[in-house]
Amino acid sequence: MPQISLAVVGAGDRGTRHARFALEHPDRARVVAVAEPRAVRRERFAAEHGLAAEDAVADWRELTSRGRRIADAVLVCTLDRDHLEPVLAFAALGYHIMLEKPMALDEESCRAVVEAVEKAGVILSVGHVLRYTPYTQALKVLLGEGRIGDVVSVRHLEPVGFWHQAHSFVRGNWRRSDEATTMLMAKSCHDLDWLQYVVGAPPKRVSSFGRLSYFTAEHRPEGAADRCVECPVRAQCSFDVVRFYGDRLAGGDHGWPLSVVVDDLTEEALDTALRTGPYGRCVFACDNDVVDHQVVAMEFEGGATATFTMTGFTQIGHRRTEIFGTRGEVRGDGQLLHVHDFLTGTTESIGTSAVSAVGAMTAEGGHGGGDAGLMDAFVSAVAAGDPSLVRSGPRESLLSHLTVLAAERARLERRVVELEAAAGDREIVRTPEALG
Ligand SMILES: NC(=O)c1ccc[n+]([C@@H]2O[C@H](COP(=O)([O-])OP(=O)(O)OC[C@H]3O[C@@H](n4cnc5c(N)ncnc54)[C@H](O)[C@@H]3O)[C@@H](O)[C@H]2O)c1
Repeated sequence: MPQISLAVVGAGDRGTRHARFALEHPDRARVVAVAEPRAVRRERFAAEHGLAAEDAVADWRELTSRGRRIADAVLVCTLDRDHLEPVLAFAALGYHIMLEKPMALDEESCRAVVEAVEKAGVILSVGHVLRYTPYTQALKVLLGEGRIGDVVSVRHLEPVGFWHQAHSFVRGNWRRSDEATTMLMAKSCHDLDWLQYVVGAPPKRVSSFGRLSYFTAEHRPEGAADRCVECPVRAQCSFDVVRFYGDRLAGGDHGWPLSVVVDDLTEEALDTALRTGPYGRCVFACDNDVVDHQVVAMEFEGGATATFTMTGFTQIGHRRTEIFGTRGEVRGDGQLLHVHDFLTGTTESIGTSAVSAVGAMTAEGGHGGGDAGLMDAFVSAVAAGDPSLVRSGPRESLLSHLTVLAAERARLERRVVELEAAAGDREIVRTPEALG
């Protein structure tokens, strides 16, 4: 397959990671330009990919204003509120687009994304990494083979992890729904997307409960300071960042989440960041408002049901799922699938780490191998001009995002919400496909 060229918008955590696919597979992709306002990130990215100064710019508009396409595809990896504008501009110029989730934050904007890419006739892949893991592929194959009969119900848990909750959703970028988005959209749009992919039917109605219970001023321990560096009671606190980020720096664990806190990986830079920046704040003295636990109940077309739990009060780990069918059940922990057959009484355990041959696409890789799988599928789709190689295209992703919006409305309005997706949006859930 021909090598494709990529422009990268946003050289933060995701943009940097996705672009490494090109370094790992130089025969398949190369990065020809980057847009990133933060000089440290831009220069580091340009050096990693050998870009000339004129191809490393501060704003994506400097790329679109050239008025011609300078790459086959663009990776849009800006923060959630900055997805719509670049997507519309790059689509109009004929770029194929890998867009980080969420595609956009409200129904109108999500529909505008879909309309723009369909009008331009370009490939869109949304960053629903869970669809691309070897684990999900193995699960889809066994469900497609009818190993547990028809799926009747599902129980699915997203264990966010206590420190990930504190890092991203209490202190970090996704702590406020007005500045970023809701927890369900930011974190769990993957799960509501994955559930409809696995069940193989569109959701019809949803209800939801959840709130911000713990990370509030009323739970602040007596004597606690506003920042961990000054806090006399931090030794007793699970959320102490001096220990948390300090241990990572000292231990050479310099990737995410430490890389979000400091660009310069030194003790001095970390100390300054914790004294002055958002990540040094007491978790009980932040300006956060997103929920720390939420449940969603769903009914799908055909009658299957699912319950989903997101909670920050866990160790960090893979999602855990039980799928109940007419002939058997599957239990999965993100790596192993245990398939029980009611007739024979036997249970088979399937390890899924080795299912794919693509680089780091193992359960231990980013997002259980989903990061590598997402880029692998997108690059293949662009090289072959075949949008069917993308498993998270515009219509699938639109339906997932509409489900998230409906569930959040159900939580806020304390009611069951019918999904009002148009007929065209509902016919897109694929039947189990041939998975390589
Ligand atoms: N698929 C997943 O599992 C997954 C996981 C984490 C984050 N995300 C999503 O990926 C996106 C990026 O998240 P992140 O953690 O990399 O954030 P980040 O803050 O690390 O990166 C965003 C980058 O965009 C840059 N930027 C801002 N304005 C710009 C402009 N005008 N032109 C070019 N660049 C600009 C910022 O300077 C920053 O470096 C978010 O939408 C997030 O929700 C997806």
